[in-house]
This record gives sequence, structure tokens and C-alpha cells, in this order.
Amino acid sequence: PRTAAVIPAAGRGVRLGPGAPKALRALGGTPMLVHAVRAMAASRAVSLVVVVAPPDGASEVKSLLDAHALPERTDFLVVPGGDSRQESVRFGLDALPPDYDIVLVHDAARPLVPVDTVDAVIEAVRAGAPAVVPALPLADTVKEVGPADPGEPEPVVATPSRARLRAVQTPQGFDRATLVRAHEEVTEDVTDDASMVERLGLGVVVVPGHEEAFKVTRPLDLVLAEAVLARRRL
Ligand code: CTP
Ligand code: MG
Repeated sequence: PRTAAVIPAAGRGVRLGPGAPKALRALGGTPMLVHAVRAMAASRAVSLVVVVAPPDGASEVKSLLDAHALPERTDFLVVPGGDSRQESVRFGLDALPPDYDIVLVHDAARPLVPVDTVDAVIEAVRAGAPAVVPALPLADTVKEVGPADPGEPEPVVATPSRARLRAVQTPQGFDRATLVRAHEEVTEDVTDDASMVERLGLGVVVVPGHEEAFKVTRPLDLVLAEAVLARRRL
């Protein structure tokens, strides 16, 4: 079965602060998106990477990828993104050629995911799971809060048992037909693709995630990402 990776990279990166779109911000001198594309291409199973670019930046992203060598076995396509991550992923899926039956969806904002994590996800889809997520146990206790009046503190309403909680990363892996159906049928707003498959009533399974697959979201995450890169280059 052939495997393609869709990389949603069309977000602004509001939480990172002012500057270029997040996927184009530099990490170790190279745009975050290029790291993310290489991380997918590092897997021998991945033969196509579909990058979903900022709507006004598709041609810039295309030249960027032309300029940064990828392994010869890996093709890439660039399509413009949408208003939400969900819409961007759908535009990426729409651009997939017919002969791919496993699809990874990977955030451009997780540039440092190790290839072993990518391969573990693909392996679990090949073994028959319709949807696979890499995930890690939480360090922090998580509380659910209720609404508060303006100026009042939020009330805690529940504390789920930390032992059963997982922080979910990408790449998430899917049987292609299942993911396409999820994107056609699920209309609620979600923050990851696997939750759409859950809404179809299908099983989603977890494989071990990796600390270095963290998402670059806020300025401190950039500091960590630079440090991880520097350590790799030692
Ligand atoms: N994404 C996308 N299209 C959008 C919004 C997000 O392709 N309309 C992508 C981002 O580029 C990112 C991934 O989805 O690679 C995860 O989203 P997030 O980390 O939230 O990135 P941003 O939405 O760019 O950041 P923020 O929410 O802080 O603006
Ligand atoms: Mg966002």
C-alpha cells in the first residue's frame, strides 16, 4: 500500500506572535515547513508529500521546496489552504492522486518528529487500524472548568484521571477512504483528524509519541526547538 503525507501549513501562527506565517519561520536557519517535509520524507514508506500552503503563499512554498533537496523517492505537491486546519486538510486530501491508500496528516508546526515515530504510525495502519495517533502521557494534571462571569475566577468542574489521559501528536495515520469519509460526514469543529474518525464510530488506536514531536505554538517552543536541533547537530 502506498503512503502519502498531507502537511497542513496554512495557519498564521497567531500564538507565536508577529512575523511570517508560522510554517515559514526559520528554525536553525531553515523554514519550519522544510523540516516538517523532510521529517515525512525520511520515512522510506512515504512517496508523496502534499503541502497545504498559506492561501497567498503557494508559489513561494513551491520554490522553497524546489530549493531544498528531498530524497529522490519522494514527490511533492503544493495546494492552497483554507480558513481552518480542518478545511486545509480537506484541500490536501482533495489533491491526493488515486493510488495512495494510507494517508498521514502532519502539522507543519511539528518539525522535529523523529522518523521512528512516523514509521510506527504507518506500521499500525498497515496492521489494520483505520486511524492511529502518536501520543504521550501528561505531565500536568488537567482540570475541566466551567464558565465564569467577567472578572470572576473560573470554577473547576471535573478532574479526569491523569493516568488515562494522553497528549496527542502528529503524524496521525489513516486508511485513506476512512479519513475522506470522515471529512465528508463530520461537520463539527475539531482540533485533530482522529476525532473525526471517532465521530464515525470507528476505532482509533494510540502508538507511543515522542517528546521531540511537540508542536511549536508559543515563543518558548521556538527556544526548545532550536535547542533540540542544536543537540542533534553535535
Ligand atoms: N493550519 C492550516 N490551516 C489553517 C490553520 C492551521 O493548515 N487555516 C495548520 C498550521 O499551519 C499548523 C497546523 O495546522 O501546521 C496546526 O495548527 P496550529 O499549531 O494551531 O497553527 P496555527 O493555526 O498557524 O497557529 P495559531 O493557532 O497560533 O494561529
Ligand atoms: Mg491554530
